[in-house]
Amino acid sequence: MKVGIIGTGYVGIVSGVCFADMGHQVVCFDVDQYKLSLYRQGKSAIYEPGLEELLAKNIAAKRIHFTDVITEMIKESDVLFICVGTPPLPDGSADLSQVEAAVREIAENTPAGAYKVIVEKSTVPVGTHKRLKNITRLYNKSQAKFDFVVNSEFLKEGDAIHDFLHPDRIVIGAETEEAKNLMIELYSTFKDKILITDPSSAEIIKYASNSFLATKISFINMVADLCEKTGADVSLVAEGMGLDKRIGRAFLNAGIGYGGSCFPKDVKAFIHVMEQYGIDASILQSVDSFNTQRFHRMIKILKDELWILKNKHIAMWGLAFKPNTDDIREAPSIKIVQELLDAGVILHLYDPAAMENFQKLFPPSDRVHYALSPLEAVENAEALLLVTEWAEFKKIPITKFYEKMKLPVVIDGRNLFPAEDMIKHNFRYFPIGKGK
Ligand code: NAD
Ligand code: UGA
Repeated sequence: MKVGIIGTGYVGIVSGVCFADMGHQVVCFDVDQYKLSLYRQGKSAIYEPGLEELLAKNIAAKRIHFTDVITEMIKESDVLFICVGTPPLPDGSADLSQVEAAVREIAENTPAGAYKVIVEKSTVPVGTHKRLKNITRLYNKSQAKFDFVVNSEFLKEGDAIHDFLHPDRIVIGAETEEAKNLMIELYSTFKDKILITDPSSAEIIKYASNSFLATKISFINMVADLCEKTGADVSLVAEGMGLDKRIGRAFLNAGIGYGGSCFPKDVKAFIHVMEQYGIDASILQSVDSFNTQRFHRMIKILKDELWILKNKHIAMWGLAFKPNTDDIREAPSIKIVQELLDAGVILHLYDPAAMENFQKLFPPSDRVHYALSPLEAVENAEALLLVTEWAEFKKIPITKFYEKMKLPVVIDGRNLFPAEDMIKHNFRYFPIGKGK
């Protein structure tokens, strides 16, 4: 089938490359010329394991190409996927201006007699498909025919290719038989994973899923605090809870709070939608406010341990909001670094992929040092904060960083290190949710 992708960020480029790999003919359009020029050379604009190889393979097979001419993309596609950003506005609601602009441009540039299916892949509030339909009515003077389908994306960064090609479900919220059948054909590889719904239910499924997962995380973080105070171990509690199939073990890893470009914004946007309809959103308000405060925990432990933080050398491993990505949007590291800088700390930061992005927010200075390796970061450090659980950190022998540090204080925000070994090696070790 002929697929058009509008917006080649995380979701757009992964969807485009995977659709091409499934055998479809894909054309990608973006307003960002720099991204397009990288993709044309087979280079990825984002750090995502496996993406560059799959991109190069499908460029060579001539199944995917890139354009900055919208009419070219429209002409070459039957199904148009809207994959643009929906960032938060100051009141927490979703900014839909990129989505509106993309659909308006499609409407203005689609010729008479054409039939196009426009697919909402971006995460949007319930009812957005109706607004977009109206935009095509207003701006398409040639009276081309459009159908709208809601087909939200559930991939996780760092596992994006695997998630796209091994989905738990493909939700298709279609209004017409013609559009529904076209989407079923497009996803025929995953026939048994397809759930057909109405468009409004499909829009709600996306926000409800992300909000539910965020709720699981805040819940286990609350339980972790109780474990710490009572001598219990949150990892065992999560294991015990997770053995119940109705609960499940996934997303019960206690930590320093969820970050990323989606959970924080989607929880806030879902609260906003609830409030618009006069629904009590206090469950989600608690999830959100608990998460917003969560990063303070690390700083409190650090202050309890070192007392005065001014001019202390603190190492930090991990800046990305999760491992296997260079994405720092809403990463807990940002708030931690800002608060430590306000306290006068000298920081030694390391991340395998996100340092370039982080330097745009916190340029190198006499207070902010970027290390070339994890071991360089801990050289003479008075404490180490483990913020993102990259696998490579776990491989570093404990004795190696014990020797390098000035004081063996480790605050582990992700329960990455083996607690018993850390204590045996004389670290002052502070994991999450493990009482003494
Ligand atoms: P992103 O910011 O990485 O990418 C958006 C892209 O759209 C950019 O390349 C931008 O240049 C382009 N763009 C903006 N306006 C445009 C226009 N008018 N025409 C063409 N291109 C335009 O965003 P993302 O992280 O890929 O997220 C996209 C959507 O998917 C959001 O709604 C997000 O909530 C949702 N989502 C994201 C993820 C994820 O892991 N990042 C997963 C599932 C769903
Ligand atoms: C999340 C969802 O998992 C995807 O299904 C969804 O498509 C995506 O949002 C989206 O809508 O954009 P993502 O944000 O890429 O994916 O990454 P996750 O693995 O979900 O992690 C999000 C945050 O939660 C990270 O900061 C992570 O450290 C934290 N987390 C996750 C925990 O603290 N504990 C856990 O058990 C799991």
